[in-house]
Amino acid sequence: MALKLSFGLLALATFASAANFRRVACPDGVHTATNEACCVFHSLADHLQTITFNFTCGEDAHEALRLTFHDAIGFSFMNEALGGGADGSIMIFEDTELMDPANNGVDDAIDNLRPLLTMFDISAGDLIQFAGAVAVSNCPGAPKLEFMAGRPNATHPAALGLVPKPEDPVDMIFARMEDAGFSPTELVGLLASHSIARSDTLIDNRQAVPFDSTPFTFDTQIFLEVLLAGQESQTLPAAAGEVAAQVPNPLVAQGEMRLQSDFAIAHSTESNCFWQSLVNDQNNMMIHFHDAMAKLAVVGQDTSKMIDCSEAIPEPVPPVAKPATFPAGTGPELLQLSCTENIPFPSLATDPGQATTIPECPDGDINLNDCPS
Ligand code: HEM
Ligand SMILES: *[C@@H]1O[C@H](CO)[C@@H](O)[C@H](O)[C@H]1NC(C)=O
Ligand SMILES: *[C@@H]1O[C@H](CO)[C@@H](O)[C@H](O)[C@H]1NC(C)=O
Repeated sequence: MALKLSFGLLALATFASAANFRRVACPDGVHTATNEACCVFHSLADHLQTITFNFTCGEDAHEALRLTFHDAIGFSFMNEALGGGADGSIMIFEDTELMDPANNGVDDAIDNLRPLLTMFDISAGDLIQFAGAVAVSNCPGAPKLEFMAGRPNATHPAALGLVPKPEDPVDMIFARMEDAGFSPTELVGLLASHSIARSDTLIDNRQAVPFDSTPFTFDTQIFLEVLLAGQESQTLPAAAGEVAAQVPNPLVAQGEMRLQSDFAIAHSTESNCFWQSLVNDQNNMMIHFHDAMAKLAVVGQDTSKMIDCSEAIPEPVPPVAKPATFPAGTGPELLQLSCTENIPFPSLATDPGQATTIPECPDGDINLNDCPS
């Protein structure tokens, strides 16, 4: 064992020194990079991990991921004057873009990240996409995302109305996504993000209301749990004006909520079979999320002018070695499957015991910043 390990290290060291030959030493005296332009992102990754996220897949990491979408989706092929995509406009023109109710709640992520603009020589668009990619690396089971550097600062805000809302009809959501370059399948891939998601704005008097039973793990539970039939009474009291954002779900007593949009996408003929296929298929979910995020991060940008600094993204925490399961108190009898293609649904176990409340903080984490306030 020891012998094998030292051979391994030797091989690694030789390889690393060959690679180092082409690397540049960064001005911080700590890092090396394949391209000098990536140095600042190595330093930024350290700062994000130690100060902003504390290496945790908690609230701040979730919000940083959401912000990548709300900045990037501000783009329209039908009218390119409406927005520049992943250009940082949501941070630079926060006062304008946050008038769109679809952006409710993203101010927390902007407030968290904005100070880094003065500490690091980067654009707002690069900061947002990089922070989101670093954030998900803390979530067990997330893929390592790509990061291309070089988004110029936005010069104007994105038009209001470009960000999909949870109450929107599914055809409207698909049309909006297509106008930004995304197919229904790509949207489903992106929605793996709702595996690590909780609402701060839709439920009356409550924050951090999770969309699945494992909001600190990048797993396929979201794809399973959205397929469990809810009864009419199984909703949480809605915040003012948000009644139509939510549809029933059977884990309401455990504190879970379901977005109308997730439900509609799970059952639309455009996307239901693909949605269903991701249940318990961690690997496929990771691949589709990775590829769609790579696209999302450069919406509206000229990638020929960008530099690949993916090397600065930390290696993600590996998946938890647990298949998808029906949460305690649910089971296969609740499955609501609308895909009519003949694809078998995986046979899954049901968690034993009583239905329990979904935890509000990541396991063992006592950092109050990562728990609902
Ligand atoms: C049809 C498209 C989408 C709709 C309608 C939608 C809607 C929402 C809503 C209403 C929330 C709760 C916000 C709150 O009340 O705090 C949310 C949370 C979230 N969304 Fe989406 N979303 C969509 C797509 C996406 C995409 C593409 C991503 C990322 C790539 C994303 C990432 C997230 C994350 C990470 C959260 C959790 C934020 C937190 O826990 O603080 N969403 N989404
Ligand atoms: C982008 O704008 C922010 C403030 O709006 C500024 O701090 C930053 O230096 C700018 N970055 C670049 C690369 O232009
Ligand atoms: C960071 O997270 C660890 C657990 O991983 C926790 O013990 C510690 O208190 C957190 N640090 C801060 C500054 O919140």
